Amino acid sequence: MVLMYFIVLFFACLQSFDCHTGRKLENSRFNFFDTDLLRYSAEDRKGNVVVSPASIKSILSMLLEGANGTTAIEIRNALRLSPDKDEFREQLNGYLSVLRANEPGVTLLNSNAMFLSSKVQNVRKEFLIMLHKVYLSEIRLVDFRQPVPVANLINSWVSNNTRGLIKTLVEPEHVDPMSELLLANSLYFKSTWQHAFDPDNTQGSCFHNRGICQNVAMMELHAELNYAYVDNLRAHALELPYEGGRYSMFLLVPHDQDGVFALIRDLPYMNLPQISSIMEPNDVRLLMPKFTIDYNEDMAETLQAMKINSLFSGNVDLSGMFNGSSPQVNNIFHKVHISVDEYGTVAAAASSAMVIPLIENGVQIRVDRPFVFFIIDNKLGSILFEGKVEEPTPYVPVVPKYSNLQQGPPSRFIVPPNAQFNSPYHAKERFYG
Ligand SMILES: *[C@@H]1O[C@H](CO)[C@@H](O)[C@H](O)[C@H]1NC(C)=O
Ligand SMILES: *[C@@H]1O[C@H](CO)[C@@H](O)[C@H](O)[C@H]1NC(C)=O
Ligand SMILES: *[C@@H]1O[C@H](CO)[C@@H](O)[C@H](O)[C@H]1NC(C)=O
Repeated sequence: MVLMYFIVLFFACLQSFDCHTGRKLENSRFNFFDTDLLRYSAEDRKGNVVVSPASIKSILSMLLEGANGTTAIEIRNALRLSPDKDEFREQLNGYLSVLRANEPGVTLLNSNAMFLSSKVQNVRKEFLIMLHKVYLSEIRLVDFRQPVPVANLINSWVSNNTRGLIKTLVEPEHVDPMSELLLANSLYFKSTWQHAFDPDNTQGSCFHNRGICQNVAMMELHAELNYAYVDNLRAHALELPYEGGRYSMFLLVPHDQDGVFALIRDLPYMNLPQISSIMEPNDVRLLMPKFTIDYNEDMAETLQAMKINSLFSGNVDLSGMFNGSSPQVNNIFHKVHISVDEYGTVAAAASSAMVIPLIENGVQIRVDRPFVFFIIDNKLGSILFEGKVEEPTPYVPVVPKYSNLQQGPPSRFIVPPNAQFNSPYHAKERFYG
């Protein structure tokens, strides 16, 4: 049997980011996929869920290029793309080019690669050319019968494209010697908040999940933020911009403590641009938990629920990829890491002495129940990451270590100094006392 593996991988952490310009795309229909994906990934699933629509779309784009017949129709329909090949190539190329923006102060890196067995004779030349030209993919010839060097090569590619933050993705024992090719995508995103949370204000607080109070590390911020109460979703919507303003995190916090499933179910009826259009700047006091999530999932089942079926069946048509019999797609393995905290860099930490004025009639949002988030490109309306958070970071008091602050930016987030040890003023008492 001929096998094909697809691996999708992400690392995201939030550090410095800036505004940059990209091609304006006609993306509104293309973006429907993004909220569908969250719905089908998170529906009826306990615990944290994080997926990256941008990465899944990158992989599906490469598959679409090689697909024909029903397989192509199903992928095109799920992505809401034009049936015209030149049109969808142009749109996907524009989309992938913008995800690759990498300028001073901006770290967004989307990379595609195909690892192709050197034993395969019938790959179409046009597919290889398009993969490289349109889908910006590297192409590497490998010998899957030698699992150790193949795993080392793939892991080295992954490590290079996540700047060393993920060093191992495949183990040699996961490499099937019968594989014909492996498509890979990695997406790396780093940014700082436009309004940093003061780590001195972070403290243990109750997060209600299924009737249980978990003591989580609750961050606190007072700032002018876009906010709306969305009646149709029975949820609070809040926008937390990243530096530069092009990218934002959108939070959707259900009004009901156990409302997150209903919220996810109703999401497709109220898209983010609609939510965004009713939001208004407000004085907001936000209490939001830190979270770090590692998520692994085979996306095959989710994509089948989204009516991409033939890709995973014996009837798969990849005749644009192979001349003659085509291999079957085993799985689309998706791996995400995301880490959200008070700030991104040590420099931001050292200068985060924010002066918090008293609010008279502002909005208070306490994210103390399972919620939904999106990391969105405001310019294109497309979503980089999205998820449902049920299990934020537990609260562990840590004594501050100032010597760390003298060094350059860490590769991971440092644990912030804790309010109970190092509070210059008693913000909690001032606002809630
Ligand atoms: C990763 O980067 C190192 C150092 O630049 C290079 O030697 C290696 O070939 C790269 N690996 C891949 C798979 O591109
Ligand atoms: C795709 O399918 C169409 C119609 O079924 C056929 O004419 C065309 O040759 C196929 N393309 C490839 C690359 O096999
Ligand atoms: C496809 O394979 C057949 C038989 O193996 C061969 O005759 C034909 O030239 C190939 N077509 C292409 C486009 O490579």
